[in-house]
Amino acid sequence: MARHILSTDPDAVRETVAVLLAGGLAALPTETVYGLGADAANGAAVAGIFEAKGRPRFNPLICHVSDRPMAEETGIFDDTGRRLVDAFWPGPLTVVLPLADGADVHPLTLGGLSTVALRMPQGIARDVIAGVGRPIAAPSANRSGKVSPTTSAHVERSLGDRIDLILDAGPAILGLESTIVMPREGEIVLLRAGGITAADIETATGLRVVRPADGAPVQSPGQLVSHYAPHGTVRLDALSVLPGEWLLRFGSLPVAGEDRAAGVIDLSPRGDLRETASKLFAALTELDRPDVAAIAVMPIPMTGLGEAINDRLRRAAAPRG
Ligand code: TXA
Ligand code: MG
Repeated sequence: MARHILSTDPDAVRETVAVLLAGGLAALPTETVYGLGADAANGAAVAGIFEAKGRPRFNPLICHVSDRPMAEETGIFDDTGRRLVDAFWPGPLTVVLPLADGADVHPLTLGGLSTVALRMPQGIARDVIAGVGRPIAAPSANRSGKVSPTTSAHVERSLGDRIDLILDAGPAILGLESTIVMPREGEIVLLRAGGITAADIETATGLRVVRPADGAPVQSPGQLVSHYAPHGTVRLDALSVLPGEWLLRFGSLPVAGEDRAAGVIDLSPRGDLRETASKLFAALTELDRPDVAAIAVMPIPMTGLGEAINDRLRRAAAPRG
């Protein structure tokens, strides 16, 4: 079983750094979700991430940095890249950049790409990375295809027997993964909607945010269609509850058949998207069990964080591969 250490423990950073420098796997709290961290320069450690997650393929991993010099040694920044990170780091934004010469990153971390995805997280994870002194590769700390963990208990449940340490800083503030973008010729390509909205990015940079064209080769290879899937089926935009379904509520409107629901979870009674984002994965995790056969989700608007929330829900509802 993984060792637990609380972020308030005076030895927390030192012990976590020691695990990572020794090539071990440590679950790290970030403001988005818990990450499964390993030394990005250590191929064997990174292979351990794929093994622990049971990932079907070697998807490229986000490299987490603690400061700008570390970021600039790892990726090649242009003016747009700099504007993005000036505005949003540390925070839930990942930028995909060409890999810098001599970057301290093992090829396995990049899944064979010549680009690197960089993010500077908030909180104690950043102190841990600074202690290691080079980038930390960290996908979300869940088994492949499952919901990203927002608490240490979620990490324990899915990976507790496969990793060395869980650094516990309580529930993740945001509860939704980072937004992934790639600067390109005066535009910004949105590869994954996330904690920072497209509108925030347009306001901060003065540049247009574009979605990859439909049918274009998949830019973010980890973006499997079916993902986040709980045991039962997921039905979106539900305005009524069918017998036996659980209901994920959004807002305060009444829903036909709610009295027949097998159970109800309120994502946000006041219809707040931030609150919904922070509760979504915990709700899907709670309902990921054999006795929950079907989940109905009320409509959630596409504005702001709604784009990322609906993206995750569509994946949870997608036909299983
Ligand atoms: O909030 C987050 O981003 C969390 C925390 C732990 O930082 N991490 C996370 O990692 O969600 P993961 O591995 O679950 O998702 C990373 C995504 C994948 O879809 C992967 O394909 C994409 O990032 N990615 C990584 N490197 C890339 C690259 N060079 N080009 C395009 N996409 C990349
Ligand atoms: Mg993930």
